[in-house]
Amino acid sequence: MSLPLVVANWKMNTSLADASVLSTLIRNNLRNISGVQVVLCPPNIWLQEVASVLEISGETVSLGAQNCYPEASGAYTGEISVTMIKDLCRYCIVGHSERRHYFKETNEFISEKVRALLANDLIPILCVGEAHRADNSVDLVIAQLKGSLDDVEKEDYGKIIVAYEPIWAIGTADSAESDYADRVGQRIKQIMGAEATVLYGGSVTAENIEHFTGLDGIDGVLVGGASLKASEFVKICEKMVGGK
Ligand code: PGA
Repeated sequence: MSLPLVVANWKMNTSLADASVLSTLIRNNLRNISGVQVVLCPPNIWLQEVASVLEISGETVSLGAQNCYPEASGAYTGEISVTMIKDLCRYCIVGHSERRHYFKETNEFISEKVRALLANDLIPILCVGEAHRADNSVDLVIAQLKGSLDDVEKEDYGKIIVAYEPIWAIGTADSAESDYADRVGQRIKQIMGAEATVLYGGSVTAENIEHFTGLDGIDGVLVGGASLKASEFVKICEKMVGGK
């Protein structure tokens, strides 16, 4: 069985100096930890800096991007391609609700990114989640998941990490109840396969992390706000050890 996974999504936060200090503190504090896998996703412009900080940290902490453009190169001003990311990262977040909302990204476009990442041996962290608590929430999540996997080969599903992030729980301090997150995670595994890695995201903190360990449907967490404080993020990682 794979190790529990903790992914830090720094979003559009940190200066160059902040990124350097934060990644150094995380690296130093997690240097001797085992039993958990950690991925830091800083803003793309700091990937090189964080990569150089992490270089000597070994296998526990690795690097991911927050977004990518599916073409390899060309006239796409301001975009960063999958092949560029590949030089520095093993993972890339795709389909985050903020990208779906603010940048109008569709399931179709997100599935293009998933396919491009897989074609380049990168691991997509595909985010899905419903906007509101409602009776049909789980069905909406599953429909969004299937839409975001358009034209992705079924045999590749096991290479994709799915992050279940209810939008109402993101940045609100109102995290999902464990049995609800577990139930959605198990439904996602019915699509992705029993061995698939499913994360929960949405107001995860060092205080509530125990709610998301030891569940059949959830194999780790995607952390936004709490990943910007080194000591809190390290605590989350430590509490995840053996948490699966
Ligand atoms: P949050 O963000 O932990 O601040 O709620 C999670 C996310 O958006 O990935």
